Amino acid sequence: MISDQIYKFFSDYVYKHTGILYKDTDYYRLDSRINTLIKHFDVPGPDELFQLLAMEITPQTHDLLVDLFTNNETYFMRDLKPFKAFAKGLISSIKESGNLIGGIHLWSCASSTGQEVYSIQMAIDTFGDPNDLITMKIDASDISKEALKKAKEGSYTGLEVQRGLPAPLLIKYFEKKGEEDKWTVKTNLRARPNFFEFNLLSGNFPVSKYHIIFCRNVLIYQDMDNKRKILENIYQALKPGGYLVFGAGESMIGVQLPFEHVEIEGAWFYRKKS
Ligand SMILES: C[S@@+](CC[C@H](N)C(=O)[O-])C[C@H]1O[C@@H](n2cnc3c(N)ncnc32)[C@H](O)[C@@H]1O
Repeated sequence: MISDQIYKFFSDYVYKHTGILYKDTDYYRLDSRINTLIKHFDVPGPDELFQLLAMEITPQTHDLLVDLFTNNETYFMRDLKPFKAFAKGLISSIKESGNLIGGIHLWSCASSTGQEVYSIQMAIDTFGDPNDLITMKIDASDISKEALKKAKEGSYTGLEVQRGLPAPLLIKYFEKKGEEDKWTVKTNLRARPNFFEFNLLSGNFPVSKYHIIFCRNVLIYQDMDNKRKILENIYQALKPGGYLVFGAGESMIGVQLPFEHVEIEGAWFYRKKS
């Protein structure tokens, strides 16, 4: 039996360090994570776990908590349409604006285990102009060290690659070595992204650096104050005329920033006003 005090201890810690909000009605979503910690620390139950962690949270335990309490759900070509529209139309619109010294600079700022950033590259190569990939600089970050490690390795199970990835793309961009159920992204796609750890709540955002920022399915876990704060920083990090790519169903509702909502090839994006 996990007491409310213990649930609150973990939800407060996670909120403070990641901005992810577990309301008391969501406490049941902490159960399996707390049970994983009980096994990890080899303690008899939640009370002993609480006593242990209330004393000290080492940097290693902090990383473990972040890895465990973030939701890394992702899949290849998630919602497909924005990836096609980005590769076919959004990139052309940036090229037409002429603001391209040093090539297009893109950031996937909650890239989880990498499916998003590899989908971005496959989409450009398949639906857009493959030459755009040659000069493009791609940054990819996440708060979770474990997710980043997997993203860098670019190795996925058969089940993971089946989610969202059409067979021709799987064959073109992945290689399967031996009998193991592991599909690894080919070296050229794996070599391009610059992966780094970045906390959207406390990280130091650059100024006017990016033409495109993918920030998909991460702000849905934040409260309105944090969402506003992160979006102000994303606004700052975009170049004038640069684009923000949200997940399906995400919007700027409740946030007052000079973005315009634009439709490109049937998908919606936010463009920073010039
Ligand atoms: C649900 S996944 C979305 C992944 C991908 N963008 C997509 O749409 O498929 C959310 C990701 O956001 C990351 N995340 C959560 N809070 C974060 C924070 N404060 N800073 C950076 N990343 C965070 C999580 O670790 C997780 O990998």
